[in-house]
Amino acid sequence: MKLPIYVYGEPVLRKKAEDITASYPDLKQLIENMFETLTNADGVGLAAPQIGLSIRLVVIDLSSLADEDPKYKDFKKAYINGHILESSEETCSMGEGCLSIPGLHENVVRPERVHIKYVDENFEEKDEWVDGFLARVVQHEFGHLEGELYTDKISPLRKQLISRKLKSIAHGKYSCTYKTKFNRHHL
Ligand code: NI
Repeated sequence: MKLPIYVYGEPVLRKKAEDITASYPDLKQLIENMFETLTNADGVGLAAPQIGLSIRLVVIDLSSLADEDPKYKDFKKAYINGHILESSEETCSMGEGCLSIPGLHENVVRPERVHIKYVDENFEEKDEWVDGFLARVVQHEFGHLEGELYTDKISPLRKQLISRKLKSIAHGKYSCTYKTKFNRHHL
């Protein structure tokens, strides 16, 4: 089942998300629904706050990038209770977008590699360094779990230049091909 994606301005996107336990209700179904929602929106990553749940659950699907990098063939992974433990000193700049901020793309400087811990769908503990494009997606998605958006991380000048655009998105002025959730009463 496809779920509506919460858009910039929704308070849940600014909340710090909580860890969950293996007894979280219908977790397998939820993960399946998040993958379906992500694929439908042509995205590479989706975090639970983006579907209105303040829990530490992220799905990442890099299979669409298999042509450019064969190691991402069949890369579909759920990250539960994910946390970033440390980051490399080396940084790089890359263009980013977000399904919760339709129509916007900006360059963001982030660490090249990150050391993460999480549990997989079987609640097996994982501890690993990730790099390349995956490191970028992991940082963007794990940021959602802290209530962060990539637009928080762009240069002050760019921030100023897009502030009106962000405001109009928060007021419901955007268009996209997927179903969104937008509550016009809270602003
Ligand atoms: Ni995002």
